Amino acid sequence: METKILSTSQIEEAADLIKKGELVAFPTETVYGLGADAQNEAAVKKVYQAKGRPSDNPLIVHVAELSQVAEFAGSLPPTFKKLAEVFWPGPLTMILPVCGLSKSVTGGLATCAFRMPDNQATLNLIKKSNRVLVGPSANTSGKPSPTTAQHVYHDLKGKIAAILDDGPTKVGVESTVIDLSNPQEIYILRPGAVTKEALEKVLGQKVFLDQHLVTEKEIPKAPGMKYKHYSPNAEVYLMPVAAKGKTWEKALTFFAGKKIGLLASEKVLEKFPNEKAYSLGSGLEADFNHGLFSGLRSLDETCEIILAETLPEKGVGLAYMNRLKKASGGKWFLEN
Ligand code: TXA
Ligand code: MG
Repeated sequence: METKILSTSQIEEAADLIKKGELVAFPTETVYGLGADAQNEAAVKKVYQAKGRPSDNPLIVHVAELSQVAEFAGSLPPTFKKLAEVFWPGPLTMILPVCGLSKSVTGGLATCAFRMPDNQATLNLIKKSNRVLVGPSANTSGKPSPTTAQHVYHDLKGKIAAILDDGPTKVGVESTVIDLSNPQEIYILRPGAVTKEALEKVLGQKVFLDQHLVTEKEIPKAPGMKYKHYSPNAEVYLMPVAAKGKTWEKALTFFAGKKIGLLASEKVLEKFPNEKAYSLGSGLEADFNHGLFSGLRSLDETCEIILAETLPEKGVGLAYMNRLKKASGGKWFLEN
C-alpha cells in the first residue's frame, strides 16, 4: 500500500479514508497518533497489526467534543469536568468507568481512556469524519514515539493509508494518563506534561502516582507501561543527575572505540564540541521532553552508544525520566 503524506488542507481526504476504515496517522501536541474509527472493529484490528502491538494494551479514544465522551461513558464525574475545563484540549488522558466501546479498544477492561488533543487539524479530522478515533502513538511497538510525520513514515510506510503532516509536535512526550474510575483516589498511570502538582491544584485533592512509578518493581496499571518501550537499537546510558564535565569525559573514555552520541543540553555539549550530539536545548525541562524521542531516533542512525543527560524526577522531569529509563533499560553510567 502506498502511504500518502497529506497536508492540513487535505482534511476531507483524510476524513474519507477514516470513514472507509483506513488508518491515518494524525498530529497532536504530544506525539503523532495512529488514527482509526474506534467503532470499526476491522479498522481497530489493523491498528494493532500495523504497530505490532500486544492485544491486551488498550487504546486511547480521541474526541473533539465533551459530548462524545458522554456518548460512551455516560454521566461524567465532577473530577472529569473540572479537569477537562482546564486541560482540554491538551496533553491529559482521562480514564473513566463504563464504556460502550469494543474489547479491542479497551483491551477487555471495564474502563476507557479519553483525550481531546490540542491540534486544530486533528480536531477538524475528528469532526469531519464524524467518528471518535483510536490513537496509539504512531510508532512500531517498542520504538521511540514519533514527533514528526517523517518518524511515522520511517516506521509505518506501506502499512497505513496516510499521514496528516502538521510539522514537529510541541510537547514531545505522550500525554499524562490519569485514572478517574475511583474519584476518591485518583492515580497518575503515566506521567506527562500535565504534572501531579497542576492536577492537585485544579482538583483540590491529593493525586497519587501509580506504585510502579515509585518502586518500579510493581506491575503498572496501564498495560502499555509494562512493555519494553522507546528503545533505539543503540545502547542508552543514563548519566548521573547534574553530572559534571569530568563524569562525561570518563564515560567517553570508557566507551572509546565505539560510536558515541550525546543527548544533552547546551551546557554539557559546549564542553564537547567535537562529539556527535543531539541538543536538548538551553536547559529548560520542557525542552528535554521536546527533544527526547527525536534525539534518540536521530542518534540511533549513526551511534552504538547514547549517553543521556538526566533530570530530577519531579514536575515535567518525571515524564522525561520515565521514558528515558525505559529507553535505557535502567542502565546508569556509574563512575566507580
Ligand atoms: O499523547 C498521547 O497520549 C498519544 C497521542 C497520540 O494522543 N497517544 C498514546 O497512546 O500515547 P498509546 O497507546 O501509545 O499509550 C496509551 C497508554 C498505554 O500505556 C495504555 O496501556 C494506556 O494508555 N491505557 C489506555 N487505556 C487504558 C485503560 N482503560 N486503563 C489503563 N491504561 C490504559
Ligand atoms: Mg505508545
